[in-house]
Parts: sequence; structure tokens; C-alpha cells
Amino acid sequence: MKIGILNAGNIGSRLARAWAAAGHDLVIAKDGEDRKIAPLLAELGDRARLGTIREAAEFGEAVLFSVYWPRVNAIVSEVGDALDGKAVIETMNPLGVTSDFVHFHDLKFMRDNSTSEDLQRRLPKARIVKAFNLMAAPALEAAAWSASPLRPNIFYVTDYPAAGDVTRELITDAGFRPINAGLLNGARQLEQVGVLLHHIATHEYGGDTDLIRLALTVVEASPGPIVRERIA
Ligand SMILES: NC(=O)c1ccc[n+]([C@@H]2O[C@H](COP(=O)([O-])OP(=O)(O)OC[C@H]3O[C@@H](n4cnc5c(N)ncnc54)[C@H](OP(=O)(O)O)[C@@H]3O)[C@@H](O)[C@H]2O)c1
Repeated sequence: MKIGILNAGNIGSRLARAWAAAGHDLVIAKDGEDRKIAPLLAELGDRARLGTIREAAEFGEAVLFSVYWPRVNAIVSEVGDALDGKAVIETMNPLGVTSDFVHFHDLKFMRDNSTSEDLQRRLPKARIVKAFNLMAAPALEAAAWSASPLRPNIFYVTDYPAAGDVTRELITDAGFRPINAGLLNGARQLEQVGVLLHHIATHEYGGDTDLIRLALTVVEASPGPIVRERIA
């Protein structure tokens, strides 16, 4: 598949690596100084080339939209209509930033909104999917889970089933287990879970640096004798 990476930051670089390894072709854009991704481009060789935000959006049959939330206005204006009709996988969390560059969870925004719904309103012809917002970027490397018997879940929500199917494929290709969590307004809950994971990291694991130890798991029980007795 042809994939546009809108911003090879912490998340975008790791997914670009995984998707290139799975055989996809990429155009990679960097918000900010693109010289920073020269090593990534060298590593990916023929599978990837550098593009502007607009070029990456135009290239992708599916597009990763993984930008710093306070930059969303600027990125959307660069993209224009290039994402119309496409599956757009967005990973953002609504982090506010103060004039002193202190980041905070924007709980006021989150009360009746989500980055996904906001992006869908800005790009009404794109097919927005939310995914990959719940794991710290280093934990998106499959190698982080090589000793784990289960693949971590990646939850996704969208109003477009076909875009959801594309996302399922790309989550699987990145080494994870896709979980369909319903419609796009479910992004509100996914973003709230992100806040919850930060609380857990602080209180259970002693700080944000340990957030990379966390992934949300849904455990499936095998129906045993108790269930069968109840049915009978
Ligand atoms: N990182 C994670 O663990 C994680 C986990 C889940 C979800 N997310 C979400 O996924 C999205 C992408 O995250 P990311 O960590 O991959 O992004 P990132 O690496 O921080 O990328 C942010 C990009 O914005 C640029 N930028 C421009 N102005 C900036 C400013 N004033 N401050 C900071 N960056 C600025 C940066 O350029 P320069 O590199 O040139 O500074 C960088 O390319 C975000 O919405 C984030 O909330 C992140």
C-alpha cells in the first residue's frame, strides 16, 4: 500500500519503520526540521522518500496523521484537499501548551470533544480513524513486546468501515492486535484512557518515564464450565 506519513516524529518514525518492513511504500513528511529524519530515510532506502506535508498527503492511499496537537491548524491548511476520500489514521492526544511551554491534558476540551472529531470537522471529506494514541512511542516497536506472549491491543474508532479495515491491516502489519472500538465519537473515551494511563504510570510505576511499560489489554476468557452451566 502507498502510505503518507504526516510527521515522522516519535510515533510516525516508528510506524514508518514497521510499515516499510512489511513491504509498504512511503512518502514521509516532517513537521519542523526535516534534516532530523535523514537517518530514518537512509535506513528505509527504496521503500521511502522525503516529501512535504502536502506531498505525503497526496501520495498516500492511507495516511498517518500524527502531529503535535497545537500544530493541527497549520498542518490542515498545508494538506488542503489532498486527504479527501482517504483513510486518515490520527494518533493525537489533546495536549494543551502554556506560554511557558508546559504541557497539560486539555480536560476542558475533552469534556465534549476529541481530536478525532475536531479533525473530521476540519477535513469533512477525509475518512478519519483514531488509533495508536494509547502507547508511548517506544512501545510501538514490536521488539519491545518480543518476550510477551500476547500482542498488545491497538484500539481504533471510525465512522467509515472501509477505512477501519485498512487500519486493521496496518495495525496488524505493525505487529499489534487491532480492536474495533466503534464509532468516531468513541475517540473521547480513548483520549480519556490516555489520561488514565498517565495517572497509572505516575502512581503505580513511579513516573512518566515508565509509561512505556504500559499497554491496555483486553483479556478474553475461554468459556468454561460456569458459563455452560448457566446456559443449560
Ligand atoms: N510520543 C508519544 O509517546 C505519543 C503517544 C501517544 C500519542 N501521541 C500523540 O501523537 C502525536 C504525535 O506525537 P509525537 O510524539 O510523535 O510527535 P513529535 O515527535 O513530538 O512531533 C511533533 C512535531 O511537531 C513539531 N513541532 C513544531 N512546533 C513544535 C513545538 N512548539 N513543540 C513541539 N513540537 C513542535 C516537531 O518538530 P521538531 O522535531 O523539529 O521539534 C515535531 O516534528 C501527538 O499528537 C501526540 O500527542 C504521542
